[in-house]
Amino acid sequence: MDNQTANWYPVARSDDLPLRHIFHGLLQGRELALWRADDGHVNIWENRCLHRGVRLTIGHNEGRELRCQYHGWRYANRSAGCTYIPAHPADAPARTICNVTFPMVERYGLVWTTESPIGEIPIGEVPIGEVPTSEVPTSEVPTSEVPISAGPSGTGPTGGVPTIASLTGKATFGLRNVPVNVEPSVVLNALATYRFVADPDASVSVTNRGHGWIELTATLLSVPSTDVASSTTIVFFVQPVDSARSVLRSVLSTSPKSGSELSVLRDHATRLNRFRDELESEAAKRQLPAPMVPHIGQVSLELPALPEPSNDGRVGGLLRVVVARKRPVAEGVVSLELEAVEEQLPTFQPGAHIDVHLPNGLVRQYSLVNGPGELRRYVIGVKREPDSQGGSSCLHDVVREGDVLAISEPRNNFPLRRDAFHTTLIAGGIGATPLLAMAQALYVSSLSFDLHYFAQSAEHLAFAEILEWLGDRVTVHLGLNPDATRDALGSLLGGSGDGQHVYICGPGPMLDAARRLATAAGWPDEAVHFEYFKNATAIDRSTTFEVELARSALTLAVPQGSSIMEVLRANGIGVPSSCEQGACGTCIVPVLAGEPDHQDVYLNDSERTAGNRMAICVSRSRTARLVLDI
Ligand code: FES
Repeated sequence: MDNQTANWYPVARSDDLPLRHIFHGLLQGRELALWRADDGHVNIWENRCLHRGVRLTIGHNEGRELRCQYHGWRYANRSAGCTYIPAHPADAPARTICNVTFPMVERYGLVWTTESPIGEIPIGEVPIGEVPTSEVPTSEVPTSEVPISAGPSGTGPTGGVPTIASLTGKATFGLRNVPVNVEPSVVLNALATYRFVADPDASVSVTNRGHGWIELTATLLSVPSTDVASSTTIVFFVQPVDSARSVLRSVLSTSPKSGSELSVLRDHATRLNRFRDELESEAAKRQLPAPMVPHIGQVSLELPALPEPSNDGRVGGLLRVVVARKRPVAEGVVSLELEAVEEQLPTFQPGAHIDVHLPNGLVRQYSLVNGPGELRRYVIGVKREPDSQGGSSCLHDVVREGDVLAISEPRNNFPLRRDAFHTTLIAGGIGATPLLAMAQALYVSSLSFDLHYFAQSAEHLAFAEILEWLGDRVTVHLGLNPDATRDALGSLLGGSGDGQHVYICGPGPMLDAARRLATAAGWPDEAVHFEYFKNATAIDRSTTFEVELARSALTLAVPQGSSIMEVLRANGIGVPSSCEQGACGTCIVPVLAGEPDHQDVYLNDSERTAGNRMAICVSRSRTARLVLDI
């Protein structure tokens, strides 16, 4: 069932979702975890962690991510994609690890969803009290309180969240929810004959005007009844919890006079409790209906097949994005905010980058600056390179707001561990971009870190608003010459400390110096993480050798002047790649036999010595034959 024809039900009140809370929702036998992220977005997910099935409602709402209480798996706001697995702290989780999500609309102070999981949250904000028109077919929206159907079974048109004219645009007032241990259809039928009866003892005078107005949809029943004294209409919605339980949700079309709210609530609560008691005592005499068995989807254990390589030999689907905003964020640096055209943007982890396919045919890599859970748009920072080959100059001079670009899905070869006692982030110039994403993730998780930002001057510090938000976690080092930079790095990396990790991104010489200093200070290789902008070393392509592909049962000759990647592609074998110059690590493959001739700048010294992985875009072989696990 698609969402245009699905039935919509209220499953919570908006005020059930205060800051950092997780609400346990129930709909037709299915358990839901509802939580409002710090950006206001309400997530409705299946209430189970993909790891061991533990209820997410006992987890932690961290504002941008939801963390499972049991083993700490984290899931991103909006996409429900897994962002971190504590048992594998050095790896970015596969994008296929994604919880089941449901559509969401907030209206009349209630949170609505359908019984059909969509896997993805619709793109775009759903501001409180508004419904995106794409989710509510206008042909199916009743425009007045004309009865649609009075049938007790509640048959009527299907579609989006119903629009109730008497509530639309009003300052509505929600009454207390009343759980009723009775079948939803019985509650619906009873509501069709529900009457207010004036209560002389009530502080609010209510006069029943009968039950002539009945408004039904296929999914719920609303029974407007008029309180003459205050000209208020009450509308009821029935939430089908399961086959034998319902929640009666009631909304008044106007707020009571100031000061009388409590007496109004008390008055209606008294009546509705009586209504519930009568229904439940009747139901006790009947046999319980058969329980509902909700469909719980299985998580596929199969790895998705690699897509066929595209014309340029790259592997992996492309996303279309529109340049929603372009603005200068530092001297010589522009920020581009890329919004999805038709898809939900995929989950990413701090340190991830995307390939941007430029209008001139070039492909360039840029790190995402976004904080965790920010999936409405990707933000990148682009520095104009003085020796631009057409990449940064194109993004600075040619690309404009409103242009549509193709980008790759995010890849993360610079993942952030979140199990360090303390994390030191060292940024040089535009190398700040992945580290700003990391700093935001650490900040919102209340983890210990500091960010050291080296730049020529204050005008060269990019994304000032993020730096300001990070506050005293940021130390800037301005206008230092190479010697002073080395001294500053030396004091930062002077003590390795158990359980500390350092992440460095910046110009090659700064990175080389930092790595040397870290090694001299006793930092273990696995605690020093780095990302180069590019591989500045000259690649030696003079050797010839054979490469055996163990899983493909194929042996290919690699001639002088060709890379292993080029030879594989020429033989129809697609391999993921990004920078294709040995800097990003996307093309790393396991080596089963032979000695690689490493020419990349991605692997650290220990990994090079181990010789069991290599970047096939640039690295070659010291032996006559290499066996790769492809
Ligand atoms: Fe980037 Fe090979 S594609 S290291």
